Amino acid sequence: MKSRTVAAFFCLASVVTITSGARIPLPDFIKPCSRNDPKLNECVRKQGPAVIPKLKDGIRKYRIPKLEPLRVEQIKVDQDESASVGINLIANDIDLHGVSQAQLKDIDIQLDPPVFKMKFLFPRVELLAKYDINGKVLILPIQGKGDANITMVNLNIDFDFDGEWVKKEDGLQYLKMKDHHIKYDMDRNYIKLDNLFNGNKALGDRMNEFMDVNWREVTQELGPPIADALALVVRSIVSGIVEQVPLVNIFPEKA
Ligand SMILES: *[C@@H]1O[C@H](CO)[C@@H](O)[C@H](O)[C@H]1NC(C)=O
Repeated sequence: MKSRTVAAFFCLASVVTITSGARIPLPDFIKPCSRNDPKLNECVRKQGPAVIPKLKDGIRKYRIPKLEPLRVEQIKVDQDESASVGINLIANDIDLHGVSQAQLKDIDIQLDPPVFKMKFLFPRVELLAKYDINGKVLILPIQGKGDANITMVNLNIDFDFDGEWVKKEDGLQYLKMKDHHIKYDMDRNYIKLDNLFNGNKALGDRMNEFMDVNWREVTQELGPPIADALALVVRSIVSGIVEQVPLVNIFPEKA
């Protein structure tokens, strides 16, 4: 059995504690949709193009981090020694470029109990980081430390979460997110690791070529921790709004 632990940390330098009792309205660039609207999903989906670009610089009040670039402190993959395929990977100082170009393709909201399903398309996400890798990629030994560039084209991310309504001190109902799930695929992934094998150019070039030809398989191996990190980011953005704004302000009786 292959065991893999994954840890992702991302920076929310701008996190501030909101004093309870402050009833936060929706950001003014989001138009509330009525919970009684039979076309609630359509109403929410239509706002995507107006809302996503507004999140680009982050919003303190809603604990939304800056999206361009989006900074993730660390993504870590460890596999235990006994695993037949094993890789240890640490990426630090990760900057994701292109996140603010996301398009909300579809949304499916169920309010009671709350279940939200969203589909995003990211036309191009460039992940630049410092990496340290050691182990095997597919069948080949790999080792190195340097700059990584992972560029994903037409990255589709499905993000779902469920939750419950909780009553806070102010007597109002707020959403509390519970489990989230992420699924992803992409049209192409360009993986480039500089300075592999202590800077041995011939070996490094060959490995990069191998990863380019086999990008799909390599993505399968390295993708899950990156996706987990992205899921946490998406979660924090969504929760920044939905957990702090009461139901009556997000989905009022009448819009
Ligand atoms: C990263 O890789 C992509 C795809 O090969 C390339 O277009 C882009 O210029 C690279 N970015 C940097 C900063 O090197």
